Amino acid sequence: MFRLLLALACIFCASRKVNSCNTDILSEDRIDCNVRPNDQEKCETVGCVWCPVSQANIAACFLNYTDNFNVILAAASNCNSRGDCQIAVNCHPDIITYQPNQASCESRGCLWLGTDAIDDQPRCVYYNNSIIEGYTLFSGAFPLIEASAICASCDNCFHKINCLPNEPSYRITENRCLREGCIWCSETNECLFGATSGLDGLAPLCKSCTDCPLQAYIKASSQAICRKKRGTWCSNRPSSPDDKRCAIISDNTFDECSFQKLAASTCTSCDNCQSPIIDCSSTDYYETPYTCVEKGCMWCPNNKTEPTCRYGTNNYRCVSADFCDIQFPRFQNIVFSRTSSQRPHLSRLMEVFCYSQMGVWAPSTYDRCLSPSPYNEAPLARDLTKIYHYYQ
Ligand SMILES: *[C@@H]1O[C@H](CO)[C@@H](O)[C@H](O)[C@H]1NC(C)=O
Ligand SMILES: *[C@@H]1O[C@H](CO)[C@@H](O)[C@H](O)[C@H]1NC(C)=O
Ligand SMILES: *[C@@H]1O[C@H](CO)[C@@H](O)[C@H](O)[C@H]1NC(C)=O
Repeated sequence: MFRLLLALACIFCASRKVNSCNTDILSEDRIDCNVRPNDQEKCETVGCVWCPVSQANIAACFLNYTDNFNVILAAASNCNSRGDCQIAVNCHPDIITYQPNQASCESRGCLWLGTDAIDDQPRCVYYNNSIIEGYTLFSGAFPLIEASAICASCDNCFHKINCLPNEPSYRITENRCLREGCIWCSETNECLFGATSGLDGLAPLCKSCTDCPLQAYIKASSQAICRKKRGTWCSNRPSSPDDKRCAIISDNTFDECSFQKLAASTCTSCDNCQSPIIDCSSTDYYETPYTCVEKGCMWCPNNKTEPTCRYGTNNYRCVSADFCDIQFPRFQNIVFSRTSSQRPHLSRLMEVFCYSQMGVWAPSTYDRCLSPSPYNEAPLARDLTKIYHYYQ
């Protein structure tokens, strides 16, 4: 019924020469403001552009922005609560894979309108939900960055977001969690987004075998392997459940950490590594781009005469479709595509959603929304900074 009314309205509009409205925004880029009633007066009151066309599936009232940041900003500044939401930009466009529901919506940092949605307004929208007074980022924009900034430790975490929500629990170990740059809560076995605590941060705290955080270790099952990896074998440290005997002592010039530091300046990209190029390949397992980048090393697949996995600047980069070392999906479960029968701006909404979750939109790739970290969900602190600046 609503569609029909809309169609009638547009026939009426068409007869009034709708092309006279002034917009450069392409029809597929029109992000629907979803005002109700969906008319010119209401539309212009909330600062959206009114420009109906004859096709009913193209938004008549849309944001005067196409860039992701301003789309989210406009949406967040005009929607405060369920009862006061002037612009309702869909935060859950992926209806192919998930039926929007309150839990799924809120886990995205968005507002569940539920039964307050009028007609076919989206049920899940971006809104201004600042988690902490005075905090400059508004929610809905970068919930994961927010979580990192306001979750300092397990006991002091204002916004708990699971760091590895799609991993089976047996794979979420303390080691894995810390190397993702997340916070490990041993009492609850939770791995949370938060202030970083990866290997780089631990190494300077490790002064000797007796004065070294338990987590400052590299994986090595024997003294020989530890030496080979330039670690320091500390037999006083526990060997199970994880073998933590191979420590990274900060003033040992031959330990892994020193290698990392050295290589960070001598090997800044695959094309720019000065001798000696130090092999970072594992003797314990088959090295892949993921295992290599995960431990902070550089994956250089093109030159067969030098180690493919080597110490260097951890150069994992994925900032655009054309500039992505490894195409790893941001979300393994969400299908970021649109069928031809769906409204054209759904692709734009998926891009905005990908961006809001710090994904990298790469529509030419299979997954379309790629991860800024070598793992799926967790942005490393170093990536957060890069991504954030990139977006500014
Ligand atoms: C949309 O933005 C453009 C460029 O900033 C501006 O010239 C135009 O007046 C705006 N249109 C409306 C309807 O606000
Ligand atoms: C969100 O609300 C806070 C306080 O309610 C306000 O200071 C801030 O400017 C708002 N942010 C946006 C983007 O509207
Ligand atoms: C491999 O690396 C060596 C030393 O850096 C360089 O001389 C050589 O040209 C490289 N080969 C290729 C195919 O890039």
